[in-house]
Amino acid sequence: MLKITKDTNPKLREKCKEVPLPLSEENHQFLVEMMDYLHLSQDPEYREKHPSVREGVGLAAPQAGKNLRMLVISYFNPTEEEPERVTEYALVNPKIVVNSIKKTYLEGGEGCLSVDEEHRGYVYRDFKIVVKAYNDLTGKEEHITARGYDAIVLQHEIDHLDGILFYDRIDKNDPFKIIEGAVRV
Ligand code: CO
Repeated sequence: MLKITKDTNPKLREKCKEVPLPLSEENHQFLVEMMDYLHLSQDPEYREKHPSVREGVGLAAPQAGKNLRMLVISYFNPTEEEPERVTEYALVNPKIVVNSIKKTYLEGGEGCLSVDEEHRGYVYRDFKIVVKAYNDLTGKEEHITARGYDAIVLQHEIDHLDGILFYDRIDKNDPFKIIEGAVRV
């Protein structure tokens, strides 16, 4: 079982290293372990038995003890046509190649598996991004276009690869300031 690095550990503040491709078996296995952890964290029965485990939708390699540019994301994202739709990625060397001027933010603020204390305030992120990455779930290099919530999750996880935590982006003097035109999610 992976152990989550908390924000009290300075390792979480380091810039992570690019991962050589094709992906090594060791790094592939690590992504599988990270995804397994996310899935377990979403199981209420598992959390009841393991109270230290919190529910997450994303996990970056430095949070699981490796200084590498890799992350996993998994959450239910139902649409009318696809009520069982799941958004899931295992990304290697993700890079934001397009971003919008328009901003978005989570109404309830962000949380993080590595952050135990509450940090109240809005985290503004780009409303639309395009991420270029190798996706180990498909075995292909992909361009992922994401908007709103999807874009927030990706930006949160990619920030971890540069040692940035969500509360770094909260305006300390005015944590709930409203940016005009920003889309609330
Ligand atoms: Co996080």
